[in-house]
Amino acid sequence: MDKKTVRDLDVSGKRVLLRVDFNVPMVPSTGAISDDSRIQAALPTISYLLEKEARTIVCSHLGRPKGPDPKQSLAPAAERLAELAGVPVRMASDCIGADIEAAAKGLASGELLMLENLRFHPGEEKNDPAFALALAALADVYVNDAFGAAHRAHASTAGVAQHLPAVAGFLMEKELLFLGKALSSPERPMTAVVGGAKISDKMAMLEHMVDQVQALLIGGGMAATFLKARGLEPGMSLLEPDKVEFAAKLEQRARERGVALLLPSDLIVGERFEADAPSRTVDAEAIPVDWTVMDIGPKTIALFQDELKKSKTVLWNGPMGVFEMPRFSEGTRAVAECLAGLDGTTIVGGGSTAQAVHDLGLAGRMSHVSTGGGASLEFLEGKTLPGVAALDDKN
Ligand code: 3PG
Repeated sequence: MDKKTVRDLDVSGKRVLLRVDFNVPMVPSTGAISDDSRIQAALPTISYLLEKEARTIVCSHLGRPKGPDPKQSLAPAAERLAELAGVPVRMASDCIGADIEAAAKGLASGELLMLENLRFHPGEEKNDPAFALALAALADVYVNDAFGAAHRAHASTAGVAQHLPAVAGFLMEKELLFLGKALSSPERPMTAVVGGAKISDKMAMLEHMVDQVQALLIGGGMAATFLKARGLEPGMSLLEPDKVEFAAKLEQRARERGVALLLPSDLIVGERFEADAPSRTVDAEAIPVDWTVMDIGPKTIALFQDELKKSKTVLWNGPMGVFEMPRFSEGTRAVAECLAGLDGTTIVGGGSTAQAVHDLGLAGRMSHVSTGGGASLEFLEGKTLPGVAALDDKN
């Protein structure tokens, strides 16, 4: 990796501003954290800083508040961090200002302070230079472990790096190594499995992927538009009429490059888009006009598994069906299980795909499950992430 990491700095006794992505899902009725994997993922860096007796000031955003909002406080995340790290974590009432500076200065070696939600200040998302400077005033060095927010050019991910030595944490390093290798020098054959509801969210990624892989497997709601481009009728499925031409062109590009682009040959369709709707398995050529595609079918699962078993690197982004509804989760489960047993590198993009493999208890059997949803997508589109670009180069 060409960016400096926390290993390249002497952090002993230093005040370290550590940007993490603790934008964790919460149960709306209770405010309890429903998935703490992003907090767990930051633990290697936090433990390292504790070991080195650094004075650590942890900062993050949570949600998309428009000003201060107690419901979007990072206090529950601070509590969970204290439990997981096994050390006390002091919670600050804000993230900048004289009181916070005093609290940061007053930290003893090996102590942790968690700042309040950065997005309570509009300067964060605007990458306001004054806000970035106020954050920088808290610390001697800056460590960015927030891969999930690295696609945002915000004060805490980009601006602050202009004022302090700026290096990557271990999670950021791991994300960049796995995703970076998949794009630059993967072991081949390489397959991308792409699903999810809509093509429109993933066009740039699909275009980039078709130039990288030997096989591209398409499932999820977006398969409907690809089927339409092949002249098939996807019934009442969510179709993106303005993306049919894109789908046809992508197929054409795949053909030119000798990439196997596989679409579902059979599907589970539902009478309605509901968890308990009557359902049946049909061939892709025979989707009933008033039914909706809910999952890939058994023949498709077998087809996809055959292709996956030949692969040495697999990148997976997007569920194969409506996996939140147990009756339509089989395709996603089958792909996850196949990847879990693969002798090769398996990389799962963040967001709902990461959620699915965590829910299935298979996250530990993947080579890497990204903590970034939008960030991993933009990385796989071949874009430079501002939060990465802002870090100090090794040379
Ligand atoms: C995420 O959850 O993808 C990151 O934390 C970024 O959040 P954002 O989309 O609100 O910037």
